[in-house]
Amino acid sequence: MKPVRQHLSGIVVKEEAFGSEAYFDMLALRKRILRDPLNLEWTEEERSWEEKERHFGCAVEKRIVACLVIRSLSDGVVKLRQMAVDLDCQGAGFGRRLICGVEEVLAGEQISIIELHARETALGFYEKLGFNREGETFLEVNIPHWKMSKRIT
Ligand SMILES: CC(C)(COP(=O)(O)OP(=O)(O)OC[C@H]1O[C@@H](n2cnc3c(N)ncnc32)[C@H](O)[C@@H]1OP(=O)(O)O)[C@@H](O)C(=O)NCCC(=O)NCCS
Repeated sequence: MKPVRQHLSGIVVKEEAFGSEAYFDMLALRKRILRDPLNLEWTEEERSWEEKERHFGCAVEKRIVACLVIRSLSDGVVKLRQMAVDLDCQGAGFGRRLICGVEEVLAGEQISIIELHARETALGFYEKLGFNREGETFLEVNIPHWKMSKRIT
């Protein structure tokens, strides 16, 4: 397999159906990158949301390397959640590619605002992508987070 960086130009952002093989690959990626390091399991309440949310990812030769979840909040407003890029692919542009692709899809659906809760360690990433901080820092899953948002249309 070629190094992942060589694939970036051909990377396509895809929405994957809940329950599909690609969905389960994304679930495994989210678990490995976001949950396991914090020793967290998903609660029943969190699991019950999955079917109502939208699941987007980028793959390199069928291997999902980046994914995120979109939850509808209200008319024209969504929340971006569970953004994760596989360890050996971080810093190679996949995160940027995925968010830009998802923004394009959402803008075409008259979504105007994307909100998110950013881990403090990822603040700089979202700022580079045009998200703005709101309010004060708060604890979520026991680590500091910031509310951020971006107007896309
Ligand atoms: C944070 C994360 C999603 C970023 O995705 P990525 O593919 O590594 O980021 P990219 O390579 O697309 O980076 C885009 C830009 O953001 C910068 N950047 C990436 N991660 C950053 C970070 N943690 N802090 C500050 N800047 C960051 C890059 O340097 C790059 O800048 P440039 O365009 O000037 O070169 C990814 O590293 C990740 O999954 N981290 C672990 C899980 C996590 O923190 N998820 C977010 C939870 S809120």
